[in-house]
Amino acid sequence: MARLDVTETFHSITFPGHMHTEESLNYATSFKFQDTDTVIVTYPKSGTTWMQEIITLVLSKGDPAVAQNQPNWARAPWLEQYYCADVLKASTGPRIITTHLPYHLLAPALQHSKAKVIYVARNLKDVSVSYYHFHKMANFLPNPGAFSDFINDFLKGAVHYGSWFDHIKGWTSHAKDIQNFLYITYEEMWQDLHGSVQKVSRFLQCPLTEDELILAQKHCSFNSMKENAMVNYTLIPQEIMDHSKGKFMRKGKVGDWMNTFTEEQSRLVDDVYSSQMADSSLLFKWEC
Ligand code: A3P
Repeated sequence: MARLDVTETFHSITFPGHMHTEESLNYATSFKFQDTDTVIVTYPKSGTTWMQEIITLVLSKGDPAVAQNQPNWARAPWLEQYYCADVLKASTGPRIITTHLPYHLLAPALQHSKAKVIYVARNLKDVSVSYYHFHKMANFLPNPGAFSDFINDFLKGAVHYGSWFDHIKGWTSHAKDIQNFLYITYEEMWQDLHGSVQKVSRFLQCPLTEDELILAQKHCSFNSMKENAMVNYTLIPQEIMDHSKGKFMRKGKVGDWMNTFTEEQSRLVDDVYSSQMADSSLLFKWEC
C-alpha cells in the first residue's frame, strides 16, 4: 500500500502519513454512502470523539456496553483512513462514519444521499490550543515548536487537514445541499449536554426516554470519557501517542485558550477571523 509521505498533499491538503494512503483518500472521495449511514464531520479537535460517544450511547439507548468494549475508531471509523473499508465490511448494524475531509472532497459522493450528516464545530481559539497540545503528544504530527509559530501556521491553514476557515465555511455554506444535516457546536454540547444528546437522538430518529437520556449523558461526560480506554486513546502505543507528554482527553473546556493566548495573539486571531468569516453568519461562544 502506498503510504503518503507527510509532506505530500492530496488536493492541496496534507494528512498524517501513517493513517492515510492515496488509495484510502481515493476510496473516501468516491465512497458510496447508504441512506442509513450517519456521518460525523469535524475539523480536528472540535469534539469528534465526543460525538462518536454521543451517537454510540444514543443508538444503545444509554447502555454503555458498546462504548466500554469497542474502541471509537472501530465503531465510527475515519472514512479517509486506510482501515475504514475493512471495518465497514465487518460492520453489521447501521454504519457510523467519521471524517475530517473538507466539503468539496465529499460533495460528489454525498450528492443525492440521504445519509445523516452531523457537523460539529468548535471555536477556533480553543481548537488551535487543543491542536497544539495534540501535536506535542501525537508523534505522527510535526513538532509544533512554540505556540506563537503554531498559531501562525494554523491561521494560514498550513497544518494537517488544512484551514479551519475553509473547513467550516465549506461545510456550513453547503448545508442546504445535504438532505439531512445537523450543525451543532462543542460549546453547545458543553453548556447543555442533556439537550445536545436529545437533539442528536431526534435527528437520528432514535427517541430516548428521560432515564435513557440521563444514562447516555452520564457516559458522555468528560470525566467518564477520560477514564474510558475505548475513547481516551490510551490503547494506542506510546510511540504513536505519548501520553507522558499530554493526554488526549486534556481539559475539555470552553475558553481554555485564555491560558495560552497572549493579548496580541488574541487580537491577531480576532482580526483574521473577522476578515475570513465576513461572509459567514456563524457565531461562536469563546467562553462560557
Ligand atoms: P481539549 O484538548 O481542549 O481538552 P477531537 O475528538 O475532535 O480530537 O477533540 C478532542 C477535544 O475534545 C479535546 O479537547 C478533548 O478533551 C475534548 N473532549 C472529548 N470528549 C469530551 C467531553 N466529553 N467533554 C468535553 N470535551 C471533550
